[in-house]
Amino acid sequence: MTPNDEMTSKMTLFDVYALQPIRITKGAGAWVWDDQNNRYLDMYGGHAVISIGHSHPHWVERIETQLRQLAFYSNSVHLPLQTELAEKLGQLSGKENFRLFLCNSGAEANENALKLASFHTGRKKVLAFQRAFHGRTSLAVEATDNPAIVAPVNRTGNIVFAPLNDLAALEQAFTEHEFAAVIVEGIQGVGGIRVAEPAFLQRIRALCTQHGAVFIADSVQCGYGRSGQFFSHDHAGVEADLYTVAKGMGNGFPVAGVLIAPQFQAKHGLLGTTFGGNPLACAAALAVLEVIGQEKLIENAARLGQYLLDELSRFPVILNVRGAGLMIGFDVPDSHADLRQNLLFQHHIFTGEAKGNVIRLLPSLALTREEADLFLEKLMAAISAG
Ligand SMILES: Cc1ncc(COP(=O)(O)O)c(C=O)c1O
Repeated sequence: MTPNDEMTSKMTLFDVYALQPIRITKGAGAWVWDDQNNRYLDMYGGHAVISIGHSHPHWVERIETQLRQLAFYSNSVHLPLQTELAEKLGQLSGKENFRLFLCNSGAEANENALKLASFHTGRKKVLAFQRAFHGRTSLAVEATDNPAIVAPVNRTGNIVFAPLNDLAALEQAFTEHEFAAVIVEGIQGVGGIRVAEPAFLQRIRALCTQHGAVFIADSVQCGYGRSGQFFSHDHAGVEADLYTVAKGMGNGFPVAGVLIAPQFQAKHGLLGTTFGGNPLACAAALAVLEVIGQEKLIENAARLGQYLLDELSRFPVILNVRGAGLMIGFDVPDSHADLRQNLLFQHHIFTGEAKGNVIRLLPSLALTREEADLFLEKLMAAISAG
């Protein structure tokens, strides 16, 4: 490197994301704008993160007020907003007898849940499912069914994979291993919107109880009302031992948590984090719960989701429409492989993707009927154009 190079070189970003050539600069409700002031309907919700709508005024106000008062203090003192958040979350989720551990991301929530299960049972093995995604950290990534993102150091051999919704394989796995935990998304997100059948989740519950294993409901993407119930596992009428939450919890403010059933023993130092549960994150998370309650967003997700599922299942070309609430997926045949990019660039609609040419819909839970209809109209136009 010459002295000249040194003067002109700048730090650049570590290039790990396949980026769309769009610069998003503003958001409101289910809409975002780029730097050319083009408006896009966000049916992707910034990857299932936007629960109450971009920059919801109540959320902005709550964060601004908190920022002026106290942005951060550590978990070495009482932070009353954390207690308030736990109470409100208990009420809305129906898990009032659970306790809450606050952290910062979905992977971290799953990592802590897996540790807690191992501490609790004294065991090591974990059952996860094919196509699962649980995050990119240590054990969470090993429990993720994607060898390309598992580093050699993450390969502990403690994870066993079984096919989702295969009852015989589930029973078989329990005869072969003594599990600390079973971790399962109620609806797989990254895996392409694959719904865990109620009978499958009920059998997991029964087997975990019978064998003393911990049932971890990864609700990072499918939870927080997105499926039309607070937890997507609620559709099966089962109660897990640990629920992990993130994405929609902060509506874009990084905050996550583990909801912990009464049988787990807390001990000082067992879990911990510097940033988890900081006052700003709690203010954002409280605002989200307040808006979800006041605006009846879980009911809205259930109603509009059913409407979209019914309408989409009558559409030509697209196949296997599936999901629940505002977590919907469908397959796109090779003849229309560019559908998602055409929706984005010709119709200004963001959608999500998954392997195998799957389109995922994960919009704000405050999506309106008019916005849903606009999406259906544009999708039909994009399909017709080929
Ligand atoms: C089901 C599920 N679990 C865990 C994660 C990881 O969350 P994060 O990216 O916040 O670590 C994701 C992220 O997409 C997810 O969909």
